[in-house]
Amino acid sequence: MALDRSKVEERFEVLALEVPARRTGEFLKRLAPNLLNVARRKNVESLPDTASKLILLSRTVTDIESLPSDAAWVEELVSSGAVKVTKFEVTLGYEHFTAEEVLRKLLPAGMEIPSSFEQAGHVAHLNLRDSQLPYKHLIGQVILEKNKSVKTVVNKTGKIETEFRTFPMEHLAGEPSTVVCLKEHQCFFEFEYRDVYWNSRLQEEHGRLIETLFMRSSPARRVLADCTCGVGPFSIPTTKLTNGVVSHANDLNPASIHWLRRSVELNKLPHVLELEELPFHSERFDPEGSLLVIHPPGDARQFIPNLFEKRHPVTHAVFNLPAAGVELLDCFRGLDYDKQGLPRPLVCCYTFSDGLASLLREWTGPAAPALAGGAKDGGRRPGRHWRHSSGGAPGAQCGTHTAYVLRLLPGAPTHRGAYANRSATGEETEA
Ligand SMILES: C[S@@+](CC[C@H](N)C(=O)[O-])C[C@H]1O[C@@H](n2cnc3c(N)ncnc32)[C@H](O)[C@@H]1O
Repeated sequence: MALDRSKVEERFEVLALEVPARRTGEFLKRLAPNLLNVARRKNVESLPDTASKLILLSRTVTDIESLPSDAAWVEELVSSGAVKVTKFEVTLGYEHFTAEEVLRKLLPAGMEIPSSFEQAGHVAHLNLRDSQLPYKHLIGQVILEKNKSVKTVVNKTGKIETEFRTFPMEHLAGEPSTVVCLKEHQCFFEFEYRDVYWNSRLQEEHGRLIETLFMRSSPARRVLADCTCGVGPFSIPTTKLTNGVVSHANDLNPASIHWLRRSVELNKLPHVLELEELPFHSERFDPEGSLLVIHPPGDARQFIPNLFEKRHPVTHAVFNLPAAGVELLDCFRGLDYDKQGLPRPLVCCYTFSDGLASLLREWTGPAAPALAGGAKDGGRRPGRHWRHSSGGAPGAQCGTHTAYVLRLLPGAPTHRGAYANRSATGEETEA
């Protein structure tokens, strides 16, 4: 169905006051709440060849007596003949209505109006229902025309099912390019939206984690293992905005690593090491300032043991893959950081969860003795969640997207669940 802008046109009559042109401002001010007050439409009309103007009144003002009592002065001016009461036909067109209003007028009665959408840079991403699909191009066009920052509208055509957390999309309106350029936390990112994961709603969460873990002063050098780094919303700002943090960036998706490199260029990061194979830890991983280490695309389950085996200290490990983050934690099995003389990483793992209970059930069962030891060791009760962050990915299995922060126990965990001796509040997360 094509967009016929004339179909949304609306005409109606309103009461108007013909007032001396020089007093227009006074009338507009004193009658402000009783004026037509339609967005993107003036309340005044010129009257050609006269020294008068028309002040358009609200649609609720049907006659001059229906003005509120504090507007009695108008009635006096009308009685004295200084002001004339007349009628005016208002025409409202496509440009006067919001996207939601336009769609309400054009879509069949009773159909849910798709008024909200996700946005990544210039791309608006809709998630239309089956019933809305016959109108998808019309909807796309309206969203495009009514939102200045939107240059492209796409519709998600399937669930996020790939391990790379991407989703199939079809172009609905605007420019065909889905190569997005955007800014988050003072850093630029560019990527092909079809090939990598991005969710602008995580901006606050990215910022909060970076600030809590890496922006506060610390005597010890902090080393982040960004295990599922995507295009770098943790790693790039952490390296750019801090001094003295090393970030090891890893992702399974080769496209994520490709676009991560692009963001390195855009942000002119001074210290970057790109590796084909991880060497043993040496001084080059300890430069002045912060360092980003880009690892070849790979599985987090190999990335963590690899860093361990090559004796790279990791003070913080972030797993932002809520659909499977908990499973990935198995990679710590058998890694005895104390024995290796390495710091035990603080693990931040995101998960979809409808509450803390299910996750804790999973972790506390087999790990109960370890948790008790951990509690003594850390002096803090295990099992307190760090924070619920808002909203999951679009179409995610569950609405909540939760971050858990855990400290590894001394010794090598040998069974699932033995990793955690506490979860902590943001204030308690410093290594
Ligand atoms: C939800 S996205 C998060 C990306 C990024 N941290 C962000 O906040 O935008 C999860 C990322 O994990 C990557 N991924 C999936 N399975 C992985 C695995 N086994 N090892 C490493 N990365 C993985 C995906 O390619 C995707 O980029």
